[in-house]
Amino acid sequence: MVVQVGEMKIYQSSFEEKDVNELENLEIELLLEGIYKICGYDFRDYNRSSIRRRLWNRVQAERLTTISGLQEKIFHDSTCMRRLIKDFFIQVTEMFRDPEFFISFRRNVVPYLRELPVIRIWHAGCSTGEEVYSMAILLREEGLYDKTRLYATDLNEDAIVKAKKGIVTLGKMKTYTRNYLQSGGKESFSRYYTVNGDNVIFDQTLKRNMVFTQHNLGIDSSFNEFNLIICKNVLIYFNKKLQDKAHKLFLDSLSFGGFLVLGKKESIDFSPYKHKYKEIDTEEKIYIRIE
Ligand SMILES: C[S@@+](CC[C@H](N)C(=O)[O-])C[C@H]1O[C@@H](n2cnc3c(N)ncnc32)[C@H](O)[C@@H]1O
Repeated sequence: MVVQVGEMKIYQSSFEEKDVNELENLEIELLLEGIYKICGYDFRDYNRSSIRRRLWNRVQAERLTTISGLQEKIFHDSTCMRRLIKDFFIQVTEMFRDPEFFISFRRNVVPYLRELPVIRIWHAGCSTGEEVYSMAILLREEGLYDKTRLYATDLNEDAIVKAKKGIVTLGKMKTYTRNYLQSGGKESFSRYYTVNGDNVIFDQTLKRNMVFTQHNLGIDSSFNEFNLIICKNVLIYFNKKLQDKAHKLFLDSLSFGGFLVLGKKESIDFSPYKHKYKEIDTEEKIYIRIE
């Protein structure tokens, strides 16, 4: 832009014309590109507002003032890089999270599963495994566990290591017990664990038919055909492009007449594969594959 000052023409830097949001976006893009190049973790297609929020929280926690400052720090301090990546892996989970889902599942999905000779279930984005142990308990109560194999995957290797152990802190049990009772649990919840100091160890026989492994929904391909895919509270962190990729992967991995379950705040409505499914429970986001 050219500005006339008296006799002189001044070329004002286009830099000043850029608005603050544009610059912030650029800083975020450079930082995410750097993480990808250095660590191989690709957060470039994650929901930008969620990434932005986490970045600013980390900027503050590290006593910095800009995202560029954070970029400099993570590039030269691997412990800071690890802290930031941990911020991006949102691990929040619970046993029998959204208890109403399990009630609907018993009513709408279990009757179909009963008819199958073997049941293959994929928990995509299982975090530290609470969702998988909950499903194992439900299946045991319905007499279906022995013919089921549960495949549980997550991008975060640390979460997978924890999930394999099946140990949670005692402090969480009040919430988990309440969830279990609200979810239509048929036994006393304490039957499924033993207490060891501040920890709770889940009945090791629940692990018998579980397989835990690392898998990235953004780049890895289908690894089996499933009767049920559960991917709750994961796609909400992806942008549209990455969500579509994950939906393609689910379609490639789900048998005809199989079920897809998403999180309460997620939906198949904007997916290019919407027509392949029929809604079974609108609230609980349970879909059946029809094409
Ligand atoms: C909020 S947790 C949800 C856990 C569980 N499904 C639930 O609803 O309680 C989201 C999980 O998605 C995982 N995740 C994020 N990006 C992923 C990706 N590209 N591929 C696989 N898992 C991913 C995270 O590591 C995290 O464990």
